[in-house]
Amino acid sequence: MEKINNNIPKHVAIMMDGNGRWAKKRLMPRKIGHLEGSKRLESICESSYKLGIKYLTVYAFSTENWNRPNDEVNGIMNLFRKYLVDKKNKCIQNDMRVRIIGNRNGLDNDILQKIEDMEEATRKCNGLNLQLAVNYGGKDEIVRAVNKILLCKEHLNSITEAEFSSYLDTRDIPEPDLFIRTGGDKRLSNFLLWEMAYTEFYFSDILWPDFSEEELKKAVNEFSKRDRRFGQIKE
Ligand code: FPP
Repeated sequence: MEKINNNIPKHVAIMMDGNGRWAKKRLMPRKIGHLEGSKRLESICESSYKLGIKYLTVYAFSTENWNRPNDEVNGIMNLFRKYLVDKKNKCIQNDMRVRIIGNRNGLDNDILQKIEDMEEATRKCNGLNLQLAVNYGGKDEIVRAVNKILLCKEHLNSITEAEFSSYLDTRDIPEPDLFIRTGGDKRLSNFLLWEMAYTEFYFSDILWPDFSEEELKKAVNEFSKRDRRFGQIKE
């Protein structure tokens, strides 16, 4: 593997955009694009681990994606079901911990059960930490946190940033260092709004099913050259 700078991001967040266009270019249904996208996710998990990335969070289904045609929504949910069941042993073998972030209200009961099984089965894994964002919205995550806080009498007067973070879905996960969006658009689309306050952004025109290990290395390489000041001045 080509050597890259030592400054590897600990946590990479990815918006896997462009599956639909990838399929359309090949005159195939959009759900084939999502299927290819899910295969790409598996290979990018392997590449991330090889590169030394410790946490990978990917946007699989947003709170807004329910507005897509039923057939497409069902297609993505079925891919998710299949992943949770078929890949469980492979995740354990690869020492990969899988967690799901997002609003669990609104997910089918069988999916909830499969999520719990996957999370429990990989709880002790120590390699890559994969977070799948499903029925996730950044604003929704913040409002759910606020509602949990409102139920706690101890926070009636004030709360610190660290305390607030502990009510988020991402409470045990460090904030992303690098955000990658494939597919050409340059916006955040309600992803990890609180967590990405100081994240470096990288946008790629490549459609997600084509986003190879080489492309990931380009993003990491670019990250390694960024000067992160976190609002401070460097001498
Ligand atoms: C955005 O592309 C992609 C999605 C909304 C779904 C992403 C889902 C996967 C990659 C599969 C996830 C699978 C598992 C196992 C979690 P788009 O459909 O908006 O593409 P477009 O912009 O070209 O239309």
